[in-house]
Amino acid sequence: MRINRHFLELKDSYLFRRIAQEVAAYKSANPTADLVRLGIGDVTQPLAPAVVDAMAQASRELGVRETFRGYDDGGVGYDFLRSAIARYYAARGVAVSDDEIIVSDGAKSDLGNILDIFADDSLALIPDPVYPAYVDTNVMSGRRVAYVEGSERNDFLPAPQDVPDGVTPDVIYICSPNNPTGAVYTRDGLKAWVDYANAVGAVILFDAAYEAFVQDETLPRSIFEIDGARTCAIEICTLSKIGGFTGVRCGYTIVPRELTDADGNALLALWRRRQTTKFNGVSYVTQRGAEAVFSDDGLAQCRANISYYLENARIIGGALQSLAIPYRGGTNSPYIWFTVPNGDSWAYFDRLLREKHIVGTPGAGFGQRGEGYMRLTAFGQRDKVEEAAKRLTDN
Ligand code: MLT
Repeated sequence: MRINRHFLELKDSYLFRRIAQEVAAYKSANPTADLVRLGIGDVTQPLAPAVVDAMAQASRELGVRETFRGYDDGGVGYDFLRSAIARYYAARGVAVSDDEIIVSDGAKSDLGNILDIFADDSLALIPDPVYPAYVDTNVMSGRRVAYVEGSERNDFLPAPQDVPDGVTPDVIYICSPNNPTGAVYTRDGLKAWVDYANAVGAVILFDAAYEAFVQDETLPRSIFEIDGARTCAIEICTLSKIGGFTGVRCGYTIVPRELTDADGNALLALWRRRQTTKFNGVSYVTQRGAEAVFSDDGLAQCRANISYYLENARIIGGALQSLAIPYRGGTNSPYIWFTVPNGDSWAYFDRLLREKHIVGTPGAGFGQRGEGYMRLTAFGQRDKVEEAAKRLTDN
């Protein structure tokens, strides 16, 4: 037996597992410490009532012979959910057809699994800093990675002119609103990437996980708002953040029919083939809950949760501001990204944990360019967030 040796090139633990382990060790040594957890971007508000009702109803249907269901239709998602998602996009003026949408158990799985449809020697262009799953999944599969710098210089929004000389990517990752910096591309910013990808024959993997946090209506929430994107982009999204589905698990990927490789092979057909071979679909109960997220009542209830989190962000931002600590994000994003005092983000993570009993995420965990920064999430409960703000500002 021989192992996939590319796993040996990875850091020992995935970022959020390492943080969980460090926090668990601290908590077991200090059992009375009242920790405020603003590390992993996990939601705390309960599911929307419309979602709970839909899931309860779906469970009851499964208990009756006449309405019982087994496998979903080929594992790509029920028609009712795919058309609900298409309507969600149509309401924003974005045309995607039901059969271009493939339902899954979340964005993280799709981001990793989609690499199956690309050549083994593909070169991925990945922003630094960014969500660490992009790099890790490419490293695991032995693919080549190049980085494009996000920094104060470009407001953490790398542009095609920042691509290092000599790099011609096959796959370009874009996360907007960005995890971890909270930076959001303008339409012009995304158009530059779409034009670049079409020119070099690359595909953009657009991670729209945080789209529902965009409050500024001039900012794009989908890559498909941009002319030319249908020939160069795939959008990957999740219900984790809009619907609080981190524990329920549901997401979707949109592959436009026009998107092909240079020989005319349709990526939609490859992705559907991959999913129907290696994945058996998301549970009926979950898909009914997901459908309810996109109903009028569901959207109103989910948006109320998003406003709650954005108010949390405002509270955390206010604390940093009163300490004269520069920060970004928190307005169209659930993440607050700020400069750490002495530039060492893991040291600051430790200090925050030990001295303030606050769990954050060190910027270095998102890439080399994240060093010198810290990320706090706004997904906490209000009383905990207020407590964290108080602890941050208390001397
Ligand atoms: C994060 O904290 O970056 C996210 O919650 C991770 C994820 O969505 O998988």
